Amino acid sequence: MTEESEPDDSVVRRDRFSGGPARDFLSSLAADERIFAADLAVDRAHVVMLAEQGIVDGDDAGAILAALDDIEDDGHGALPDGEDVHEAIETAVIERVGPEGGRMHTARSRNDEVAACIRYRLREDVLDLLETVVDAREQLLAVAAEHTETVMPGYTHLQPAQPTTVAHWLCSYEEALARDTGRLLDAYGRVNQSPLGGAAFAGTPFDIDRERTAELLGFDGLVENATDAAAARDFLVETTAATATLATTLSSLAEDVVVFASKGHVDLADDYASTSSIMPQKKNPDTLELVRGRTGDATAGLEGLLTTLKGLPRAYNRDLQRAGRHAWDAIDSVSESVEVAVGAVATADWPEAVLAEAAGDGFATATGVADLLAQAGVPFRTAHELVASAAADSDDPGFAELDAASEDVLGESLTAYVPREEVEAALSPAESVAMRDSRGGPAPEAVEQSLSRATEALAADREAVESRRAAVADAAAERQSEVDGYV
Ligand code: ARG
Repeated sequence: MTEESEPDDSVVRRDRFSGGPARDFLSSLAADERIFAADLAVDRAHVVMLAEQGIVDGDDAGAILAALDDIEDDGHGALPDGEDVHEAIETAVIERVGPEGGRMHTARSRNDEVAACIRYRLREDVLDLLETVVDAREQLLAVAAEHTETVMPGYTHLQPAQPTTVAHWLCSYEEALARDTGRLLDAYGRVNQSPLGGAAFAGTPFDIDRERTAELLGFDGLVENATDAAAARDFLVETTAATATLATTLSSLAEDVVVFASKGHVDLADDYASTSSIMPQKKNPDTLELVRGRTGDATAGLEGLLTTLKGLPRAYNRDLQRAGRHAWDAIDSVSESVEVAVGAVATADWPEAVLAEAAGDGFATATGVADLLAQAGVPFRTAHELVASAAADSDDPGFAELDAASEDVLGESLTAYVPREEVEAALSPAESVAMRDSRGGPAPEAVEQSLSRATEALAADREAVESRRAAVADAAAERQSEVDGYV
């Protein structure tokens, strides 16, 4: 190298490596817009910690922190060119502060920095998604509360199975969404750990305070091992897996509604329906079909992420630059799905008379009759055989057909076991529902109790989301007040 091409900062390295044909290929700057604010926060916390530890002096810290404010005001679009947002912000700091700005990158690497940025941004996305899911659950429970007596057909294998209620069906999805909430909260705990201080992968000789940067950024703890801190992306995997699982829950809900709509069992609000460009009579459940279809976005994200991460050696490899986007895409896609799916359900009309009429179709009350006989002392398997034999002989068996089957199977009249009125009651869908009052069953009182348990669980989850939000906001306020002390 000649004398003049030998300044002592990283400009040398950048000039040498950033100008070739692969420049755009290497760069993540555009996609890094998502972590622009996160990087500024991470920079601020790091600089405050460096100043507190006496690693940079207060004046330099103040100048760097003032430059970061200015860079924030100008926005991501105004950043100078760079391989990524971290490099571009550092360049922008040096442009404003001079070479002293280069002290910002003391005792860290882009490896721990980018991991911190992804975690910082992702936790916000996870909290937003959690809030959306919690709101959705509240809506489902509110609709359910209005429909504990709205009897509807229930299916297995898409065949009429047993009558249920709209509330019971809704609660089944609310409970699944509660588990999805739990998975996201669980993932949050492992997302919200600080990798900062891991540096490239092998720590740093500087007397840094990792706990302090974690605290200033609102992280709940540290990724202890410096190599793991730089390399780990399993927090992305589990968040994306939880998101894909949520998408799968929604896809079933959507599919149910599509099927119900095709049978005239639900009438979607016009806002959630679509029409045909040729068939004037059509009202199609396209929103729900898209919810179902978007499951592919989430599962693609999970698959893409796992493939990107598989077999990566320790510690940092540039493949990791392609990891975050899978999680962002999945989360963005699925959070819209939550709102649309639940919005469609919450605004739909449930035609009670049609549903009640359909609830008995296909002899859906058969199980209730068998249960009644079993309660009266007939072994359940025998009762099942008796009712099955009536069903084989008639599409819509009533007391007479069942009684004939009883003579065949038991050798005596049904009334030897249960009064005729009780058999006839069991043949009514509403009665069939009312009989199934075990915990978690569809009987209106059972659903009322489930609803109150679900409401309590929902309140606890909402509180869990809000307390995490508050902790993040408190850390931001503390960080700001420390920054204000230097600027
Ligand atoms: N832009 C990179 C990423 O998103 C971080 C840069 C670390 N680069 C490196 N060569 N060590 O993962």
